[in-house]
Amino acid sequence: IKKIAVLTSGGDAPGMNAGIRAVVRAGIFNNLEVFGVRRGYDGLVNGEIFPMDAKSVANIIQRGGTILKTARSEAFKTIEGRKQAYDNLRSHEIDAMVVIGGDGTFTGASKFIDEFDFPIIGLPGTIDNDLAGTDFTIGYDTAINTVIQAVDKIRDTAESHDRVFVIEVMGRDSGLIAIRSGISTGAEAVLVPEFEVDYDAIMKRLDKSRKNKSSRIIIVAEGDKEGGMIVSEKIKENFPHYDVRLSILGHIQRGGSPTCMDRVLASRLGVAAVEALVAGRRGEMAGLICSEIRFTPFKSAIKHNVKLNEDLLRIIEILSL
Ligand code: F6P
Repeated sequence: IKKIAVLTSGGDAPGMNAGIRAVVRAGIFNNLEVFGVRRGYDGLVNGEIFPMDAKSVANIIQRGGTILKTARSEAFKTIEGRKQAYDNLRSHEIDAMVVIGGDGTFTGASKFIDEFDFPIIGLPGTIDNDLAGTDFTIGYDTAINTVIQAVDKIRDTAESHDRVFVIEVMGRDSGLIAIRSGISTGAEAVLVPEFEVDYDAIMKRLDKSRKNKSSRIIIVAEGDKEGGMIVSEKIKENFPHYDVRLSILGHIQRGGSPTCMDRVLASRLGVAAVEALVAGRRGEMAGLICSEIRFTPFKSAIKHNVKLNEDLLRIIEILSL
């Protein structure tokens, strides 16, 4: 291969810029020409493809978001869109690509490879951490650190007013943000989509923990069947004398300067992705398992394969006394 492209797709995640930088510079190091694609697969379909050099990725490793911009592309879901994308890549003589994103990104990449036999390697970029084949996705560590900073602040005010706070965190189909931020902020309960919620047990726990603490925090993953609003209503109904508040953290979780963990992860995986393409690999996601680089086929990396460790929920229960 002589020319590669790089794009970011789906929800942005802190550390994507570190990944772009690593792909561009590792590409140049391997004597490849590197192109950037703006706005994910939409940009591929619309021909927003431009040459990148070492300078174009200077001073971005510390920045949140993605300098390439991103999109959730409808056009790329159609065969006409993917054909147009392929023609645009070929018109620049690009012969391989690195895509940074999550589940939807790899589903699209997988189809594209099947149809056009085009070499693609993926980097896991999503705050949700809901991909198999890597211990952590790029952006997850920054997001959970953003969440714990916010929850610590809420704890200060909750404690001052003897309040119960329901805090909804991101994770469309996954409780992984909720569970780690719950453990690290001493939440009294965490509700995740992966497990059926036993409301009786949660109410008992809230009541019991009252004698030891004046504030209580329940973290609810966005993907939970009920969601933060209904959970807070249920608590109010059960305990009319509790002072209950709801806080939905929202998109602050997706922004901000990436942590050291995310910068190093993205840098390692970016280099690994380019080396993999040069070595002839394709159709796989580069991930890190027990600190070693591992490659997983896109079809196995997507999120229905991700298991949430039930032991983490047990820890929350034990420590919530
Ligand atoms: O996939 C990452 C994520 O932040 C999910 O946790 C969330 O449900 C979704 O993106 C929100 O997407 P959007 O910004 O497009 O509303």
